[in-house]
Amino acid sequence: MDSSISKPAPYPAYFIRFGLVLLAFGMVFGIIGGLQYVLPGFLKGILSFEKTRPLHVSAVLFWIILTATGGIFTYVQEHSGRKIHSVLLLKIQFFLFGISIVLIMACYFAGMFGGREYWEYPPYLSIPIVLGWLLFLVNFLRTVGSLKKQPVYIWMWLTGIIFFLFTFAESYLWVLPYFRKNIINDMTIQWKSYGSMVGSWNQLIYGSSAYLMCKISGDQRTAFSKKAFALYFIGLFNLMFNWGHHIYTLPTHVYVRQISYAVSMTELLLLGRIIWEWKQSLTTAQKFLHLSSYRLMLAADVWIFLNLLLAIGMSVPAINVYTHGTHVTVAHAMGTTIGINTMLLLAIVSDLLAQKQSQGGRNSKNGFWVANISLLVFWLSLIIAGILKARWQMSNNPLPFSSMIQQLRPFFMVFLVSGTTLAAGILMILFSLFKKNIHVTSNQDIQI
Ligand code: HEM
Repeated sequence: MDSSISKPAPYPAYFIRFGLVLLAFGMVFGIIGGLQYVLPGFLKGILSFEKTRPLHVSAVLFWIILTATGGIFTYVQEHSGRKIHSVLLLKIQFFLFGISIVLIMACYFAGMFGGREYWEYPPYLSIPIVLGWLLFLVNFLRTVGSLKKQPVYIWMWLTGIIFFLFTFAESYLWVLPYFRKNIINDMTIQWKSYGSMVGSWNQLIYGSSAYLMCKISGDQRTAFSKKAFALYFIGLFNLMFNWGHHIYTLPTHVYVRQISYAVSMTELLLLGRIIWEWKQSLTTAQKFLHLSSYRLMLAADVWIFLNLLLAIGMSVPAINVYTHGTHVTVAHAMGTTIGINTMLLLAIVSDLLAQKQSQGGRNSKNGFWVANISLLVFWLSLIIAGILKARWQMSNNPLPFSSMIQQLRPFFMVFLVSGTTLAAGILMILFSLFKKNIHVTSNQDIQI
């Protein structure tokens, strides 16, 4: 690691800044969506739930993608001691992503859709994203130089970049009539691609956290260890084949479901590892817990544990039949993107903003606890609402839909309140970082 390159070049920092703006923007629309859960019809004339939901979901997904990209471009320079291969390619990539994201949000406001869940904007707006991603791949490979004797995080980044490109393109196969004409195949490919796409951005983020852990501990050996590579291969295996629970309800070939169920269960190995290493991680935690990025990574570990329990439960076909299409699925999606992805990205942002390992201050600590306790309540309220809805869906003598929604209302209220405090907690962490950064900037000329 070369600390002389510890100042991020401005363009990776632009990706992170834009990511942070999208996070704040996305959370505002999440809260409006939550309000629409408890006050159906709220703002319906100008901003119905059909618009609020994609505005929220796309903004937070782009927060994940942009910030992961900015983190990788900074860390790959630190790791290799080389400057980014081409700042021009990076600028073009930033421009392509930026222009498509702005147009996507404008389309949502104008009610112009045409895509599918998560990417509901007109499909042609994905073309600049794919082009930008190709530049990302070229620039990353050129900056790394050789792939010989590289630590695990370089492989994780490379895997994430390649698989994101592949799965993102795959999620658009439906635009071709050949794939669209058979609904079962179409849905199978669609949900398979989404499952693997999440695995791809996880590789991008987990790679950066592996790098950050080495940076904090000052020990590179773990990134070259056999165990690190074994875990990487389990992650890769899951990325490629662990999408079965997305398609249990489709009448596709039985062997597809059986294989993917078996693969899902390899995740138990990851679960076992977390439990096995828990004690050891507690000792390490005592050493580094005062560091804001370490704290956030530790929180992500707890969220990996909780979400893995939920995911393994949802991978059991007999349970999946009940939970499919309920708020349990929303809990799974938000639990992982907030608890794991966002916590890790905030750890990376803390590291990059502070430039030297930051203690974060009282506001950061308070924000940390507010965000995590709120997230637990938020997540549980969705799971309980989901279980109640599943019971209703499977009931032989169901209540009318409106009575069921009335029953869920108290949980939606809890969801809204805890969602708002969750957003407040995240903003507290960010404000304390920015405050610190402004202070550091004025002394040391550091730029984010
Ligand atoms: C870092 C912050 C957040 C991230 C990464 C995030 C992520 C997501 C994702 C991935 C979904 C799609 C879920 C699915 O389709 O199953 C979603 C939906 C949603 N989120 Fe968030 N979220 C965040 C914060 C919030 C906050 C603070 C609220 C406030 C209450 C909120 C409210 C909602 C609502 C109402 C939906 C729509 C659920 C539905 O379709 O019924 N989110 N979020």
